[in-house]
Amino acid sequence: MQETATQATSVREGWGTRAGFILAAVGSAVGLGNMWRFPYVAADTGGAAFVLFYVLMVFLIGIPVMLAEFSIGRKAQLSPIGALKQVGGRTWAPLGYLYVATGFLILSYYSVIAGWTMRYALEAALAGFAVAPADFFGQVATGTGALMYHLVFMGVTIAIVTGGIKGGIERVVALVLMPLLFVLIIGLAIWAVFLEGSGAGYAFYLQPSLGEVLSLDSLGAAAGQAFFSLSLGMGAMLTYASYLSRKENLPSSGVTIAISDFGVAFFAGLVVFPVIFAFGLSDEIGASSVGALFISLPRAFAAMGGVGRIVGLIFFGALFVGALTSAISLLEVVTSSVIDEWELDRTRAALGAGFVVILIGIPSAYDLNVLSLFDKIAGEFFLVVGAFVLSVFVGWRMKDPTDELAQGFGSRSLLKGWYWTLRFVVPIVLALVIYQVGASAVDLVRQTFGGG
Ligand code: PHE
Repeated sequence: MQETATQATSVREGWGTRAGFILAAVGSAVGLGNMWRFPYVAADTGGAAFVLFYVLMVFLIGIPVMLAEFSIGRKAQLSPIGALKQVGGRTWAPLGYLYVATGFLILSYYSVIAGWTMRYALEAALAGFAVAPADFFGQVATGTGALMYHLVFMGVTIAIVTGGIKGGIERVVALVLMPLLFVLIIGLAIWAVFLEGSGAGYAFYLQPSLGEVLSLDSLGAAAGQAFFSLSLGMGAMLTYASYLSRKENLPSSGVTIAISDFGVAFFAGLVVFPVIFAFGLSDEIGASSVGALFISLPRAFAAMGGVGRIVGLIFFGALFVGALTSAISLLEVVTSSVIDEWELDRTRAALGAGFVVILIGIPSAYDLNVLSLFDKIAGEFFLVVGAFVLSVFVGWRMKDPTDELAQGFGSRSLLKGWYWTLRFVVPIVLALVIYQVGASAVDLVRQTFGGG
């Protein structure tokens, strides 16, 4: 069946199957967040307390917010700006604009990092890793090379989004990329078990060290990471749900997506930490930075010789696949907004939006500090703010907020529990988090621009 692009403006596209939607949403969730951001933020914020808060944030705050996004998207059958306008009136449209702006900003640097993963996978395949990975990272991370790979990665992303929901995104993500990703990650985790000296890595990762106090810092980091990883707070899940039919059970889809995302982050830790410890590189995770994974792992891969090249190719290949399926959802948010708001056809919308993303990404391709700053502001702060405002809207202002979920939840008390959590628990916790994340974002702005 051929999907015609011209139909997009009149009849809304839709997912072919329920599994297609779930896999695409899991693809959005699983990405650099699980394999690059989770291990480094976990190590940076110090093990147990962070992981504990993270689990809490995913299940207590993340799932309710995801269901709120699903409800609005499916009800309105529109992308964020139009959906919020339709469901909430003009007052709430700015939230939709914030979502689209966040999408542009996150994708702009996300694509630069995804470009690094392509470069690393190629390096493993063609040459093997250098013995001085910090130098290699220095060459790859910034400069014209970084910009070129950012361009190539955006080109691939645009091409898939241009294909549409069923014929592009669902076909590529659900049928090819996600199954591939699961096989690669599970294969790597099994391989890591047999690595000599990996035990210390498992211990570091899995043994709670209760000296860790539960602090506001780890709460903020965990919440930020949970939203980033679940693709929440910027309308990605809202947009994907806007292509769903009324029949789908939203609560069960949401739980499946959250558990899969958590599972992959967990498995990624089962690969990263054993490898790092087996090669005596544990000091490096302390000095955690955006480059941690790209420096310490290649050092280990280089030490393994031929095997290291194969494992390196699989690892960075998996990272690339995960990044691609997430980037697709980020671009879909802005593309579908352009389609709905300006009534452009999909091809033009995707090309135009992609072009703007490429431009915004240029500073991140030349300066790692800019990249970290974008990640802090858009990838953490805006997401938390976006989710906070959404919970206030759905919890306190939206008419018939439980309509879309009533049938899926089945039981009245579960439905009430969701509503109550969204009205009280989510806004209160997120207000605290906004305070903490906001303060640390301001610090980072000062450090970046204040000559520090
Ligand atoms: N969830 C993706 C990841 O973990 C990133 C992302 C954030 C995608 C926000 C879409 C929206 O890599």
